[in-house]
Amino acid sequence: MKAVLCRAFGPPETLVVESVGPPALEPGTVRIAVAAVGVNFPDLLLIEGKYQVRPPFPFSPGLECAGTVTELGPGVTAPRPGTRVMTFLSHGCMAEEVVAPADCVTPIPDAVPFDTAAAFPVVYGTSYHALVARAALAAGEVLLVTGASGGVGLSAVEIGKRMGATVIAAAGSDEKLALAREHGADHLVNYRSEDMRERVKALTDGRGADVIYDPVGGDVFDTAMRCIAWNGRLLVIGFASGRIAEAKTNIVLLKEISVVGVAWGAFAKRDPAANQAYFATLLRWYEKGAVRPRISRRLPLDDAVVALEGFRDRSVVGKQVLLVGAAGG
Ligand SMILES: NC(=O)c1ccc[n+]([C@@H]2O[C@H](COP(=O)([O-])OP(=O)(O)OC[C@H]3O[C@@H](n4cnc5c(N)ncnc54)[C@H](OP(=O)(O)O)[C@@H]3O)[C@@H](O)[C@H]2O)c1
Repeated sequence: MKAVLCRAFGPPETLVVESVGPPALEPGTVRIAVAAVGVNFPDLLLIEGKYQVRPPFPFSPGLECAGTVTELGPGVTAPRPGTRVMTFLSHGCMAEEVVAPADCVTPIPDAVPFDTAAAFPVVYGTSYHALVARAALAAGEVLLVTGASGGVGLSAVEIGKRMGATVIAAAGSDEKLALAREHGADHLVNYRSEDMRERVKALTDGRGADVIYDPVGGDVFDTAMRCIAWNGRLLVIGFASGRIAEAKTNIVLLKEISVVGVAWGAFAKRDPAANQAYFATLLRWYEKGAVRPRISRRLPLDDAVVALEGFRDRSVVGKQVLLVGAAGG
């Protein structure tokens, strides 16, 4: 089968596409013929050796995919071969076939196309876990989302609106903010041209945001600490800016805020049943139109490099998907 391979840590252009043997079917797993792969910022971190996971070489990046079940491993009775599914792994999805633990495989409704399903698990799983389980966002609260046009950011805007929050989207350009508006944001802040702290204070009568969802880190996190409300929850999602910020504990004390870590992938592996319940809710929301994965670019598997460079130059909005086999040409 064809797979994107990382043979040594390095930039996207060091990846190669090669023919390799199919992955082994272990007890408790299912084999999936991949139709589409979702691309995520952590794929870039993974191939550069900057991620918490460091697989042995050679490995394929790719955290999520959608396709059709072709074979069941020992001890597995469902989902049956022929079932259309989505799944997530620690790596390995940029390939024509994957083998995934059966409890991390989710059947998808006929109405969900493969490219949409491939773009679904990581961003919606992360944002649902963050806003529902970690922050307990309540209807009527104010949610500030930074990096709001990116993969996880845009999903947080949608889920925040679905939960009844007032959503302030913050991003680095007016074009990116327009996308956040299309996906439901109530207020927009351009943190390259505006003072985010002042704008959030002005929009909240001086109170600040109740919940802040921050996948950017660095200076954006530092500013977020200064526009959070009394008893607020600051969700640490990621560090796309490249700097891991440090929380000022004097602000934590003075405003009785919580700085809350979010590690959706690790959570989903610890508690697959809870994660399947998240996806059941999220797929219902999809069918009602409350969440609408925004696929900004579809590329063949061979062009994984192009997709990953989009994260490096900060040009990506929404999600990018690699199409595999006949779909990818
Ligand atoms: N905690 C979890 O469970 C979890 C799960 C998935 C992803 N993540 C993390 O979340 C972060 C975002 O992932 P993603 O897939 O949503 O990425 P993405 O689509 O590239 O979004 C990241 C956003 O960060 C902003 N940004 C600011 N400075 C940047 C820089 N120097 N380079 C690139 N982007 C920059 C960009 O928006 P502006 O240009 O508007 O600033 C961009 O839209 C990553 O750190 C990832 O590892 C965490």
